[in-house]
Amino acid sequence: MSTQTTAPDSTGQTRIAQRRTYLMCRPEYFTVSYTINPWMEPANPTDTELAVRQWQALYDTYISLGHEVHLIDPIEGLPDMVYTANGGFIIDGVAYGAKFRYAERQPEGPAFMEWFAANGFTVADPEAVNEGEGDFLLAGDVILAGTGFRSTDDSHRELERVFGKDVVSLTLTDPRFYHLDTALSVLDPVQGENGVERANIAYLPGAFDEASRRLLEERFPDAIHVSDDDGAVFGLNSSSDGYNVIISPRAKGFERQLRERGYNPVMVDLSELLLGGGGIKCCTLELRR
Ligand code: ARG
Repeated sequence: MSTQTTAPDSTGQTRIAQRRTYLMCRPEYFTVSYTINPWMEPANPTDTELAVRQWQALYDTYISLGHEVHLIDPIEGLPDMVYTANGGFIIDGVAYGAKFRYAERQPEGPAFMEWFAANGFTVADPEAVNEGEGDFLLAGDVILAGTGFRSTDDSHRELERVFGKDVVSLTLTDPRFYHLDTALSVLDPVQGENGVERANIAYLPGAFDEASRRLLEERFPDAIHVSDDDGAVFGLNSSSDGYNVIISPRAKGFERQLRERGYNPVMVDLSELLLGGGGIKCCTLELRR
């Protein structure tokens, strides 16, 4: 893909689109048949065909932006498998497997690990309960790791051991934002002092406890603070290639904030998948070789 750059924004930074490789899962068996987060209401009907069409629009968007997308086969009876972000966490060809908190999703863990192994990744078998990139986000040289609802503190220590990177633990407190990727989005890497790689991020302050908010404030003083309204429509559950940021069309304020900083927001509506409590980022797992 030709790298797109824009004119530097007011902070003097230039946005650069980087080619990404993702893993997705077509929601052929998508439905809401159990409740493991406040968005899921089995009594509300779901439209699987609409979910597939909306998902396809996200897939097509990635392809048209020049990204590479791999697919894992959906498994009947695992309706949440479409949320591939939870399937693991991968850096430099090493895939730390997921160990799901709730019984309904537990069979997904081995299914994803099998796919990683079959596709040339070194699999690190998880000991601690963790839900992959739903709770772990690579931000420059550090891993931001969520806890409070799904992934445990122990998984943060395991992450540190597997990848040898600093892990910054953040505690989520609002049950609507039960995975880190519903409350925080990594936008692009920034070259900091002494070759340390930092990152630009956006987050919803109200989703975190006091101590985590302070940590975020210290480490990311320039972060975009997203409004409660944009957070509540899963505006932060977005995926960025450094320039193009795929977001929900409902996150109007976030769209404006991104434009002001020189990013290119691209709107994709996954309303049907929101019935399961997931959005754009949830349907996207980054494969870093
Ligand atoms: N129904 C799924 C669950 O509760 C949704 C997962 C959303 N994934 C995410 N990365 N936030 O586990």
